[in-house]
Amino acid sequence: MSEPIVRVQNLSHSYGPFSVLHDVSFEVEPGAIFGFIGPNGAGKTTTIRVMSTLLEPSQGTVFIDGRDVALAPEAVRRSIGYMPDHAGVYERLSVREYLEFFADSADVTRDGTDYSVVDGVLELTDLAKLEDKLVPTMSKGMKQRLQLARVLLHDPKLLILDEPASDLDPRARIEMRDLLLELKRMGKTIFLSSHILSELADVCTSVAILEKGRLVAAGPIEEIARKMAGESPSLECRRVRIKTLEPLDRVRGALADEKGVLGLEPGPQGTIVLSHAGGDAELARIVRALVLAECGIFNVEPERNELERIFLEVTRGDLQ
Ligand SMILES: Nc1ncnc2c1ncn2[C@@H]1O[C@H](COP(=O)(O)OP(=O)(O)OP(=O)(O)O)[C@@H](O)[C@H]1O
Ligand SMILES: [Mg+2]
Repeated sequence: MSEPIVRVQNLSHSYGPFSVLHDVSFEVEPGAIFGFIGPNGAGKTTTIRVMSTLLEPSQGTVFIDGRDVALAPEAVRRSIGYMPDHAGVYERLSVREYLEFFADSADVTRDGTDYSVVDGVLELTDLAKLEDKLVPTMSKGMKQRLQLARVLLHDPKLLILDEPASDLDPRARIEMRDLLLELKRMGKTIFLSSHILSELADVCTSVAILEKGRLVAAGPIEEIARKMAGESPSLECRRVRIKTLEPLDRVRGALADEKGVLGLEPGPQGTIVLSHAGGDAELARIVRALVLAECGIFNVEPERNELERIFLEVTRGDLQ
């Protein structure tokens, strides 16, 4: 197993008398897209600010790429690209001028005149066509993309993105997701926070879930789901939506002798919701029984995605 690129150990933080993080520990493997999930006020931004060397924690340590953020903040800053949740806007600068300014501050231009780094980043983030546009006149989605372009200038190994898709419309969200997948393909590790689960479920392989400053689950999504299925009776029953050409009564008849079937009921948009025991193998058996009974099945999908099931199970919906 490779060294984790992020190691958060027993992290606690208080703002004055208010204790907002309690003994949080988790690790991120290199190359992962890691989702940091939690309701408003859970402590995501606080954790991210510690990871990004901007906040000294009350207790605990964070290692980024093997370096302690408190002892080697300069080196850590070179290996991370941090995008805050609400970044300020620079007036009167064009997209290119904005990126050249940050390229100069990050000292990544050759001889102070060769801005090929900026060209590369404009290309990657699909902003090349907008290079002369003034930053204050850009849409939110485009500004978000520009923020991402900015943190890529010094080619960091690890991107730390605080709610990168908040305020984005559906198209801009999809584009952001595709860009993150492209960055992963380029070998970057991406740590991103969000409370929009569907957004994370599409891209993340691992997650940490925070609630009221405490870590409630962390690790690869499949591993958490498997572990919870063993511990929690409510997860032993899985629900899937089936799209079939047959009426519900005929499906009921076809499955009358199937022991794994716990329930059948009408679902939204003409679907049938099947509750069943067991895992994938059991579901495959049930679908096979339907096909053998000549029920035409043309879609089977989980009623909720894995991440939503995990989240609902481990959090109680309390706000801090
Ligand atoms: N500078 C501060 N001073 C005092 N309290 C703060 C400060 N920053 C955050 N808090 C409090 O710390 C808690 C955690 O806040 P944090 O911003 O880390 O949560 P979050 O998970 O990022 O929430 P959100 O989803 O709303 O961004 C909240 O109760 C918040 O009110
Ligand atoms: Mg936040």
